[in-house]
Amino acid sequence: MSCNILVVGDGNLSFSRSLVTHQWKSESERGEKTGTFYATVYDSEEELFVKYGERARENVSFLREVGARVIFRVDATHLSEALPNDCARSLDQIYFNHPLMPSVLGRKPTPEDGPDYVMLCNRLMLRSFLLSASQFLVPDVGEIHLTIKDTYPYSWWRVDSLPESLPAGVVTFLRREMFQANKFPEYEPMNVEADRGFAQCASTTFVFCHRSTERKRPRDDIAPQTVMHMFCEICEKGPFSSRQDFISHEASKKHQKRCSYERQWQALVGKMQQ
Ligand SMILES: C[S@@+](CC[C@H](N)C(=O)[O-])C[C@H]1O[C@@H](n2cnc3c(N)ncnc32)[C@H](O)[C@@H]1O
Repeated sequence: MSCNILVVGDGNLSFSRSLVTHQWKSESERGEKTGTFYATVYDSEEELFVKYGERARENVSFLREVGARVIFRVDATHLSEALPNDCARSLDQIYFNHPLMPSVLGRKPTPEDGPDYVMLCNRLMLRSFLLSASQFLVPDVGEIHLTIKDTYPYSWWRVDSLPESLPAGVVTFLRREMFQANKFPEYEPMNVEADRGFAQCASTTFVFCHRSTERKRPRDDIAPQTVMHMFCEICEKGPFSSRQDFISHEASKKHQKRCSYERQWQALVGKMQQ
């Protein structure tokens, strides 16, 4: 069985190395799977080595030795510009771990940009990534795996709701899984700008596909009559045990802040759709 895998935005390429070692290479060696492994980074080759040093060089050499294809300057939001033409509708798995834009528009945000600017830019980048990646998935079975930390500000990206901001049928949210770091012992999550790792911490993998599968959100497990009034989808809080608790939640500063941010997001998406 053939399995084509793409990893994008892979820091020092240690996640690709680990995935190749524990999944792709071992399955290929057992003759269970063949296929192409594309390990990609946003940086040029030179930038990568300047930023991440010897470890990145070792990972590139390792990947090439085992037959993976290492591609530089791959923008996850414009995959068709960097991937070979025969990749279209041929990828079984696409991975993007801990996405974060290096610097938004090449400058530091100003007070005029507003407090939510960086969050909105990153959320927009992920929306474009899903749009671009969906064209490369094997229809029905291909999956996009997007892993982010379970903390602010990443949780405010509301990754599972991104398909709602895209035209119908582009991509469907399938499920969420706890990211199991112990499955990837060689993986060193890397800072976006520098050769500094960060500790593995509680993170969630959001899985998307082309299939028109029903979305699975926490509220799906709640009885229908409770859903409308007792669960806050924006904050993913609830179900609340009383109407009063729910009203108090809606009046809270945090909820109001999130509503303001969601309105900005909706306005941005509206502009993109014009
Ligand atoms: C916090 S680092 C994580 C690096 C790596 N994924 C890891 O887990 O170690 C964020 C990564 O997102 C990448 N990135 C941001 N925007 C990107 C884009 N448009 N296309 C590809 N990669 C992007 C950066 O280059 C950087 O490698």
